[in-house]
Amino acid sequence: MVSNALARQTREDSRVRLIDQSPQSVDMTRELLEGLRAPQKSIAPKYFYDEQGSRLFERITRLPEYYLTRTETGILRAVMREVAELVESDVEGRSGKPVLVECGSGSGEKARIVIDGISPQAYLAIDISKEFLVSSCEALSVDYPDLDVYAVCADYSQDWSVSEILDTTAPLLAFFPGSSFGNFEPDEAVTFLARAQRAISGRGSLLIGIDPPKDVSVLEAAYNDSAGVTARFNLNLLTHMNWEFGANFDLSGYRHKAIYNPIQERIEMYLVSQRDQEVRIGGERIFVAKDEVIHTENSYKYSYDRFVNVAQEVGFRCTRHWTDEAGLFSVFLLGA
Ligand code: AVJ
Repeated sequence: MVSNALARQTREDSRVRLIDQSPQSVDMTRELLEGLRAPQKSIAPKYFYDEQGSRLFERITRLPEYYLTRTETGILRAVMREVAELVESDVEGRSGKPVLVECGSGSGEKARIVIDGISPQAYLAIDISKEFLVSSCEALSVDYPDLDVYAVCADYSQDWSVSEILDTTAPLLAFFPGSSFGNFEPDEAVTFLARAQRAISGRGSLLIGIDPPKDVSVLEAAYNDSAGVTARFNLNLLTHMNWEFGANFDLSGYRHKAIYNPIQERIEMYLVSQRDQEVRIGGERIFVAKDEVIHTENSYKYSYDRFVNVAQEVGFRCTRHWTDEAGLFSVFLLGA
């Protein structure tokens, strides 16, 4: 009880500004049905991130097999001073402290590294998972009392713009860590980068984390951890469908599967149906055969050349690029 009262009080005192642009649930249901009616059934990976899913993902980031987060964090810590200098010199004629815009902020852990490095005047976090977004922004604003914090609940794969939210001509640093970029299909990847380029053109840079292709056993282990957290994360998607979209998936009827596709250079995740079964969702019945798979995620891996090609295609130039010693992960600073 006491802790509840305290939590509420913190909320009321909060300096975090919430801008709620969450997608409408009717639109989501329509999108879900479309995916489940198709010959290759699919549910988009953004639906992983209900509160429990966001928590499970945080656990994934700490798994021994999941090299991505820890490697990227190490790179960011090591190069932040250099990033700060480059960002400053990238915006001729603009003065004042920069604004940091992060897409898919999650726990905001990496944002802290960048905030410490570039001391921005404002931090704008865009994420689809509202409760998780708000609580991590609250925590951040407590630790950085001079920082203006904006929590934008939105689907960043749709059109987004900073100027609608923040009326400023300050330099911008867009931050897209964690290889979340890998979730986009190739055409969506181009669209996303083109939008980002337009949003920051002449005003700053994009700092982005990219996971390069590597040994299949390393990749597959990262998505099939021995503690089974990734399996729970994948299955939680069905729990999310059940509580938010009134579906009736039986979780015991599905199994987690993740494999590397070397032709498309991506990890593919599926839920494999263990038997013939039927599921109700959005007033429809959908039949799922034994061994049929529901596709839940692609995680594309980009070599240096392939990523730079896409970035240049939309008008970015590669200012700098860093990797760890083993070449497991890479961070790019792109100028717009
Ligand atoms: C958040 C998209 C970067 O693809 O590695 C982790 C999501 N899925 N384990 C990734 C994820 C399964 C993650 N991204």
